[in-house]
Amino acid sequence: PEAQSLQGRTAIVTSGPTHEPIDPVRYIANRSSGRQGHAIAAALARLGADVTLVSGPVTIPDPAGVKVVHVERAEEMRDAVISRLPVDIAVMVAAVADWRVASSSDQKIKKQAGEAPPPLLLAENPDILSDVGHHGSRPRLVVGFAAETQDVEQNGLRKLERKGADLIVANDVSPQTGIMGGTRNRVKIISRQGVEDWPDLTKDEVADRLGALVAERLAGL
Ligand code: C5P
Repeated sequence: PEAQSLQGRTAIVTSGPTHEPIDPVRYIANRSSGRQGHAIAAALARLGADVTLVSGPVTIPDPAGVKVVHVERAEEMRDAVISRLPVDIAVMVAAVADWRVASSSDQKIKKQAGEAPPPLLLAENPDILSDVGHHGSRPRLVVGFAAETQDVEQNGLRKLERKGADLIVANDVSPQTGIMGGTRNRVKIISRQGVEDWPDLTKDEVADRLGALVAERLAGL
């Protein structure tokens, strides 16, 4: 069946990793490619939504038909997202670093002969999905992702409650699945209505299906 239109709706999508600086030349990162988040932003735009994509550092091109805001750190991503509320739809796909370096150095940290390596002290990053899910201007539909390597369903359900989301797209990112950084994805859609198991699909196909589901849910609200 034809997907319902998202004409007249606004959406924010986060995508990619974040880079958390250690000093001006070094950072902590993760293996997220941004492929799934970018595909979702494009899919929502194709359904007619006015989409802003807030992307961490990625090597893939900006998708067609969406406004793109490029950020590096989790705190920048949070500010970029929160300052753009209210919107109708939020899809938080970014693999936001859980921690940043507590006091990153303004100067390159020098290796000193004969000295012990410097300790890396970490601080907790804001949880953007949770901030959006509990915000005074909460979007009508809040979608999160759950990249897990075990107990995918149970962890997804807990995430739904804890972060104030309506839908969690849960996937198994164990290295043998090839999902993180790859072009395919196999997900479970977790909501208060139950769990849907989707087949192995390309990330573009997951994006199209999710766009249709978002449109359907929004029409029913
Ligand atoms: O808790 P966990 O990182 O597994 O949750 C994943 C979901 O939460 C994803 O939707 C991700 O985009 C979002 N998230 C976030 N900010 C964080 C951590 C995760 O928005 N600091």
